[in-house]
Amino acid sequence: MGTSSENAAGGGRGTAVPKEVDYANYFCTYSFLYHQKEMLSDRVRMDAYFNAVFENKHHFKDKVVLDVGAGSGILAIWSAQAGAKKVYAVEATKMSEHARALVKANNLEQVVEVIEGSVEDVTLPEKVDVIISEWMGYFLLRESMFDSVICARDRWLKPTGLMYPSHARMWMAPIRTGIVEQKLGDYQSAMGDWHNFVDETKAFYGVDMSTLAKPFAEEQRKYYLQATPDHVLACRDRIDMFYRVERSKSLHGNHFGLIAG
Ligand SMILES: C[S@@+](CC[C@H](N)C(=O)[O-])C[C@H]1O[C@@H](n2cnc3c(N)ncnc32)[C@H](O)[C@@H]1O
Repeated sequence: MGTSSENAAGGGRGTAVPKEVDYANYFCTYSFLYHQKEMLSDRVRMDAYFNAVFENKHHFKDKVVLDVGAGSGILAIWSAQAGAKKVYAVEATKMSEHARALVKANNLEQVVEVIEGSVEDVTLPEKVDVIISEWMGYFLLRESMFDSVICARDRWLKPTGLMYPSHARMWMAPIRTGIVEQKLGDYQSAMGDWHNFVDETKAFYGVDMSTLAKPFAEEQRKYYLQATPDHVLACRDRIDMFYRVERSKSLHGNHFGLIAG
């Protein structure tokens, strides 16, 4: 998963936008080795995939594998080491060149073919037995790479094929942050200050400002109170949407153990 990528659209990221915008917003971070290194240094992530592959070698032995979003090529390399006869490692960014070098340095170029391009656009010469991908973003679905994996599944996975990972689970709970109470307090204190201001302006400068109390209250209400509930509502809608996506889209294939996002 990414740490700094923005959730851009296009190239499998929701609403279509020009490819160069998609690249600037999302893919460019993945074209840096430092970012791939961060992911490769994440022991929880690495151990989960490593164990999933090598504890299920029989799923890979003599099979054709597609690595969706290969990055440095680590999952493709493991798939080959686990006995795959052919691995297509599809990576959208120039990281594909480093992946190719890594494959060669590990003497796997006869098995792993690195293809630079969006998985939505590439054409493979055959259907595959296994799709492996690390597509999970923050809160599971951030980055929206899930759509690309589903697209790859629908285009290239054999009906009997397996998905790695095959399932994802989300846990969520409502929280109370106290932010609404804090904003209400700020609003009330702004209005208290207004009344002092009206009294003082009248006493010191002889002008009655009280007729502006209503528009000032309205202005302050919008500033302190309206922004927060909208924001809260937006989060709630998003959570609801994620929940519905989780319920309506599931990957298929056998269970193979847990991979945590
Ligand atoms: C979270 S990283 C995982 C990299 C590598 N598989 C690993 O586990 O270390 C996701 C990678 O997928 C690539 N990617 C995202 N969407 C893609 C798409 N639609 N087609 C091809 N590559 C994609 C990104 O550029 C990035 O390198």
